[in-house]
Amino acid sequence: MKRRELLKAGAVAGAGLMVLRSGILQAGQSPGEKLNVAVVGVGGRGGSNLGDVAGENIVALCDVNSQTLAKAAERFPKAQTYADWRKCLEQKDIEAVVCSTPDHTHAFVNVWALNRGKSVYCEKPLANSVHEARAVREAYLKQKDKVATQMGTQIHASDNYRRMVELVKGGAIGKVQEARVWCSRTPHGGDHLPAAGDPPPHLNWDLWIGPSPMHPYNPGYMGGCLAWNPFWDFGSGQIGDMGSHMMDMAWWALDLRFPTTCKAEGSPVSADTLPTWLTAEWDHPANDWRPAVKVYWYDGGKKPGVPSKVFNRDSDAMFKGVIYK
Ligand SMILES: NC(=O)c1ccc[n+]([C@@H]2O[C@H](COP(=O)([O-])OP(=O)(O)OC[C@H]3O[C@@H](n4cnc5c(N)ncnc54)[C@H](O)[C@@H]3O)[C@@H](O)[C@H]2O)c1
Repeated sequence: MKRRELLKAGAVAGAGLMVLRSGILQAGQSPGEKLNVAVVGVGGRGGSNLGDVAGENIVALCDVNSQTLAKAAERFPKAQTYADWRKCLEQKDIEAVVCSTPDHTHAFVNVWALNRGKSVYCEKPLANSVHEARAVREAYLKQKDKVATQMGTQIHASDNYRRMVELVKGGAIGKVQEARVWCSRTPHGGDHLPAAGDPPPHLNWDLWIGPSPMHPYNPGYMGGCLAWNPFWDFGSGQIGDMGSHMMDMAWWALDLRFPTTCKAEGSPVSADTLPTWLTAEWDHPANDWRPAVKVYWYDGGKKPGVPSKVFNRDSDAMFKGVIYK
């Protein structure tokens, strides 16, 4: 398929990254029929995402770490560079935004980008709270016929996930009853980190904190998502992190929508950080192809009783069904 046709058909693909769209981008709109992309957060996961869209026109790069930004700019010397994503998103020629910042800025970048009519590929999770997720949805619904959006739950596009969904929906395990999903990472609990002097000159700490309440700089927050994710002001724990990937399979295979009940249990709750372990269960009503189902989540070393050693993995999803003979 020629690139022009592919654009028309609705997909712009990079190696591991795909921006699906719904008819907005006119083929030929950009030179060489490429998208004008801004990448917000260009280190860590953002570095991989930047590599995946490198074949498009990278017109803007944004990062609060000037060293990381300078390194990305060496590769894309024509791109405008920014420390502040709010200024970046004002650049008029941007058509699509890749957002790979820490979780507490996702919803804000999304709402600003959508309100400016830009398509968005956003790393999971979409937001850091239910309220933020609703704000993003509201902004999206106003633009849905004009923009393409996709989450950074890239495993969703894998053969393995599709096959699982086909098997469950196709009745391979009979009448499905429940799904159990787990991730055994054990995060640390505790309080916010103590002040540890000034941030290094290449880091704009004020912009890193962004919309969250101010906390004094501590290098312990640096080091990628595993470092800042346990703090409520920056992340949403294992269920928001790995849960975005792992629960996705249950959600998709069972066509889940809204649960009728939810119950959770965990280690003592801290005002600052997530519990060191958590289990949760939801009741989902029947739909037109399956009965009511239960869905379970486990983290911090908790796991469902697995039926055989074959299933005894650190993170996974397990579906249970009944075959009537
Ligand atoms: N899909 C996946 O498989 C996968 C894997 C890892 C991480 N992630 C997600 O990617 C995101 C980033 O995770 P990470 O581990 O790369 O984090 P990170 O802390 O390394 O941050 C990524 C980059 O964003 C920059 N940054 C931070 N705040 C910014 C801001 N306000 N504006 C612009 N740039 C900013 C950082 O300097 C860094 O270069 C998270 O949301 C995480 O959940 C997804």
